[in-house]
Amino acid sequence: MPVIGLGTFGSDKYTAEEIAAAVYGAVKYGYRLIDCAEVYGNEAEIGGALGRLFDEGVVRRDELFITSKVWNDHHREVGAACRRSLDALGLSYLDLYFIHWPYPNYHAPGCSGDARNPDSVPFSVEEFMDTYRQCEELYREGLIRAIGVSNMTVSKLKKTLPKMEIMPSALEAELHPAHQQPELLSFALENEIRPIGFCPLGSPSRPERDRADGDIAAMEMPEIRRIAEAHGVHPAAVCLKWAVQSGAAPIPFSVKEAQYKSNLDCVCGDPLSADEMETIRRADKNCRLVKGQVFLWEGASDWRELWT
Ligand SMILES: NC(=O)c1ccc[n+]([C@@H]2O[C@H](COP(=O)([O-])OP(=O)(O)OC[C@H]3O[C@@H](n4cnc5c(N)ncnc54)[C@H](OP(=O)(O)O)[C@@H]3O)[C@@H](O)[C@H]2O)c1
Repeated sequence: MPVIGLGTFGSDKYTAEEIAAAVYGAVKYGYRLIDCAEVYGNEAEIGGALGRLFDEGVVRRDELFITSKVWNDHHREVGAACRRSLDALGLSYLDLYFIHWPYPNYHAPGCSGDARNPDSVPFSVEEFMDTYRQCEELYREGLIRAIGVSNMTVSKLKKTLPKMEIMPSALEAELHPAHQQPELLSFALENEIRPIGFCPLGSPSRPERDRADGDIAAMEMPEIRRIAEAHGVHPAAVCLKWAVQSGAAPIPFSVKEAQYKSNLDCVCGDPLSADEMETIRRADKNCRLVKGQVFLWEGASDWRELWT
């Protein structure tokens, strides 16, 4: 798996066409990992960009690493969801297919942060494993080359890993200098599950529903700014170097050519020193940005219950 990829969630701010154009430009520049999901609503447009890249001979399919994810309301029909993503992307297989959230709790795209679905339920090992078994089936059919889990915790992994027949190859989790999740990162690495870091720059363009008082912006942390100055780079570069040197593959999003180019360039040299890595380690704020409160069930106290 590549050490860095391009995110494709437009945060309700960028159109599917802009994102597909970024995928085209980014692959031409050298990106090989593209992180997709059905719920991002742009897989058909990204499929168009991939088709052009193949037709023009820029890359072959086997040189790319394409992920997608099953959304919460399709946990009982994972095969159909995966085939829809494959059709939209114009591919015959996915390199990695994630269970996007370990809950079958649906909320309408773009709903407000206070929205709740009365059908939402707490985490259930049985429900999760039923979804996971369907992914194992897709793996056996050859439609996906690896299974991924996302938005999991160490506790949920400990309960479910022993029940799996095919181990997950990757874990997608929020990872940036203000939310380092050291236990989860170590657990994944010890179990040979590759961490993929989402919101690696602290998601400065995230939708309103994912903003809360007290959120800390990774790129504005004084430690990150000081290290960026010392290296003569943007704070974004420090966040991405930190992720790669911590063992994770960050998937920064950008539709802006200068940004996505520098995001790739910055992980190819001038690493952070051990002292700088230690400074960042000590600066962790345990500040989760994607809290997931819209997935809460009746009777749950607050969003922290999703992360037990
Ligand atoms: N598995 C999950 O549940 C999950 C959850 C969230 C995200 N994800 C994945 O992770 C990807 C990344 O997360 P994200 O998009 O929320 O956050 P992010 O990558 O941390 O932040 C993206 C924003 O950072 C800014 N940016 C990018 N490169 C920059 C640079 N070089 N210098 C300065 N600013 C820069 C851009 O802001 P401007 O728009 O202002 O240019 C961009 O919109 C998503 O696209 C998605 O693929 C997965």
